[in-house]
Amino acid sequence: MSEHPRIHGPLSVAPMMDWTTPSARYFLRLLAPHVRLYTEMVPAVALWHGAAERFMPFHAAEHPVAVQLGGSDPAELAHGAWIAEQWGYDEVDLNVGCPSDRVQSGRFGACLMLEAERVAECVAAMREATALPVTVKTRIGVDHHDTEAFLDTFIDTVAAAGCRSFIVHARKAWLSGLSPKENREVPPLDYGRVHRLKARRPELEIAINGGIADSATLHEQLRQVDGVMVGREAFANPYVLACWEHELFGTEVLDRRAAVEAYLPFVEARRSEGVPMTQLVKVLMGLFNGCRGARAWRRVLTEESQRRDAGPAAIEGALAQVAPQAAA
Ligand SMILES: Cc1cc2nc3c(=O)[nH]c(=O)nc-3n(C[C@H](O)[C@H](O)[C@H](O)COP(=O)(O)O)c2cc1C
Repeated sequence: MSEHPRIHGPLSVAPMMDWTTPSARYFLRLLAPHVRLYTEMVPAVALWHGAAERFMPFHAAEHPVAVQLGGSDPAELAHGAWIAEQWGYDEVDLNVGCPSDRVQSGRFGACLMLEAERVAECVAAMREATALPVTVKTRIGVDHHDTEAFLDTFIDTVAAAGCRSFIVHARKAWLSGLSPKENREVPPLDYGRVHRLKARRPELEIAINGGIADSATLHEQLRQVDGVMVGREAFANPYVLACWEHELFGTEVLDRRAAVEAYLPFVEARRSEGVPMTQLVKVLMGLFNGCRGARAWRRVLTEESQRRDAGPAAIEGALAQVAPQAAA
């Protein structure tokens, strides 16, 4: 919708701990060449203490790829943003949406919505440290701070520090009393709040997140905001990304079977580096959902990937369970 330069673009896959691992991102990229990918959240303090080799590696095929940082210390986040640029990421995103206790005890994530000035300081420090776009992923509110005015003030304060692109999970977070999982389900979605934010600040790039799982909703949202970020559906039913890639960008996408075959050399290479097979197949589990043989595919994949010497053959074995016409 916006005529201003776009960072997020029309579609991305959300940052998800334990899910958007480098291997999962590599596979999702095979399905959807133009969709923006986000890493799992990387604690800025870990990078500060020199753990970049553990958290930052990614495959060149993953572009466009954003690294999401968690933190609330401007110096640590600035350092993290600089590291992100050194490693060749396309964007640095700040997590202001995660409500887990572990994250709150480090005073970052969703609780930072209560400290807009601090988030602005962090964004300013990050922008100073890197030429990469700096974005913020947030919620529509926290606890009883959930009025439209609260969200507006938060966004305006952070935008004044130079953030041009926000991803808004269209539900608030309860900082205590709900688990992170419940915080993704219990507070009701309010898409209208995000649409009104875009209408009020049309020059900002606003992507919406939360509960988007079908094509009609995707296109409906794109009439109101600049982009959609999809989380759980990308793993429940990864092939939806290929369908949406085709709809949005006109790309001739791989069918399911071809995508799996294209993933095998990567699996072989990662296995030789010691990446557990169970981690490499996690992103594949939902691939054939809705197709004949989907259940056998999941079962064989689960069983075979647990063997100590498991390799690409486990995936080929599972593929043999799926009807050939289930390719497309
Ligand atoms: C397993 C899991 C891990 C997540 N980890 C993160 C994270 O590291 N950073 C973050 O900003 N959001 C995280 N989220 C939230 C998602 O990015 C997204 O905002 C949320 O799932 C709502 O989108 P959806 O309804 O499309 O799944 C996580 C969600 C899930 C399910």
